[in-house]
Amino acid sequence: MHQLEGPLATVRHIRLRDLPPAALLRADASDPQIAEAVAAVEQASGIVIATPIYKAAYSGLLKVFLDLLPQFALAGKIVLPCATGGSLAHVLALDYGLRPVLQSMGARHIVQSQFVLEPHLKIEGDSLSVDDVTGATLLEAIYHFRCALGHAPPHDQLGHPRPERADGTASG
Ligand SMILES: Cc1cc2nc3c(=O)[nH]c(=O)nc-3n(C[C@H](O)[C@H](O)[C@H](O)COP(=O)(O)O)c2cc1C
Repeated sequence: MHQLEGPLATVRHIRLRDLPPAALLRADASDPQIAEAVAAVEQASGIVIATPIYKAAYSGLLKVFLDLLPQFALAGKIVLPCATGGSLAHVLALDYGLRPVLQSMGARHIVQSQFVLEPHLKIEGDSLSVDDVTGATLLEAIYHFRCALGHAPPHDQLGHPRPERADGTASG
């Protein structure tokens, strides 16, 4: 999360699994915790969405939350979709399943989605880290996200920005 922080960014983490489940399932936007999460989405210029892949799709928990947001809750916003999964067979689940939902909610720009395989993740208690190669790829995605938000200048104004990898070589 600290990779997203900078002089122009205030970062907020909403853990959907910590929201009250009954209010979530009833789409009760008057519940104070749900209302607070909805307001945080409303105030954000950019949103990183992270979900596990379950049964070849993004999680039901995420869908329940997206369903209770106003129809155009993502209007004008930049979105970076990320997923963890056990199989590369479902690497396109974000693009085929989630992207149309985000588009229908008015997202202005959706940064190339990121799929992280479970063996590349290290979970220790509440902390999650990734291996170096995955880390470099995620840093690039964050760079594109920040460019789209206007928080970082694109390296190449004519094409897709190609930032340097952590090891100094050009990407792409
Ligand atoms: C019920 C269940 C279904 C899953 N289905 C898929 C799947 O269809 N494709 C896939 O790539 N990974 C699948 N996985 C693996 C998860 O995406 C992966 O383990 C994920 O990182 C777990 O996140 P979590 O610890 O938040 O549950 C599944 C895991 C579970 C528990």
